[in-house]
Amino acid sequence: MTTTERSPGLINDHAHLADVPAIHRLIQYWADETGDVLPRSEGEIYGTLRDFMVLRDVQDGREQIVAAGALHIEWKDLAEVKSLVVDPKQQGRGLGRVVVEALLDEAGRLGLRTVFALTTTPAFFERVGFQQAAVSSFPRKVWNECFRCPKYSNCDEVAVSIDLRDKGLRDGLLRDGPSA
Ligand SMILES: CC(C)(COP(=O)(O)OP(=O)(O)OC[C@H]1O[C@@H](n2cnc3c(N)ncnc32)[C@H](O)[C@@H]1OP(=O)(O)O)[C@@H](O)C(=O)NCCC(=O)NCCS
Repeated sequence: MTTTERSPGLINDHAHLADVPAIHRLIQYWADETGDVLPRSEGEIYGTLRDFMVLRDVQDGREQIVAAGALHIEWKDLAEVKSLVVDPKQQGRGLGRVVVEALLDEAGRLGLRTVFALTTTPAFFERVGFQQAAVSSFPRKVWNECFRCPKYSNCDEVAVSIDLRDKGLRDGLLRDGPSA
């Protein structure tokens, strides 16, 4: 659990069981409103709860989940960002970035090399360090999940990915400055 630099009341944390209804509400909101994320049942969220990070906004002792996202391991070197959602009243405050960076830190800690996402908002992911990629670069995803998706033949999502070795190098350069 860490306090973010953006606001002292914002806490970056692994999801707890009690967070599931709030995570479900945010996912359902965006699934209904724009279809930018796939709907997930509460059962699916409980089943993958250890994938989820949340941002808690704690003000005057009251706590609210303002953003959430999941990192799902696909293979020994590959994971996917899924179900990334920000409270619609809190968009554009950098919360999506905080969640993605927390998921990437987790991926780095686990020793993963590549993180990808299938998204209708590639521009957001590009702002946080991902690059567009071919969906065919992730055949396990296509074979395991996309084939079962109702939107498969009419998919509006773009693949984006980040190589964590490049990210580590970039973060090191930003921290230490380029070596002469
Ligand atoms: C997409 C989403 C996660 C972004 O979260 P957010 O907190 O509003 O985004 P941030 O404030 O962290 O933005 C980080 C950067 O991305 C940019 N950005 C955010 N949303 C963007 C969009 N839709 N298109 C282009 N750029 C975007 C921001 O301008 C910012 O750029 P900057 O670093 O140059 O200032 C959020 O809007 C959301 O929940 N959308 C609905 C669900 C969804 O689309 N989830 C992703 C599906 S995989």
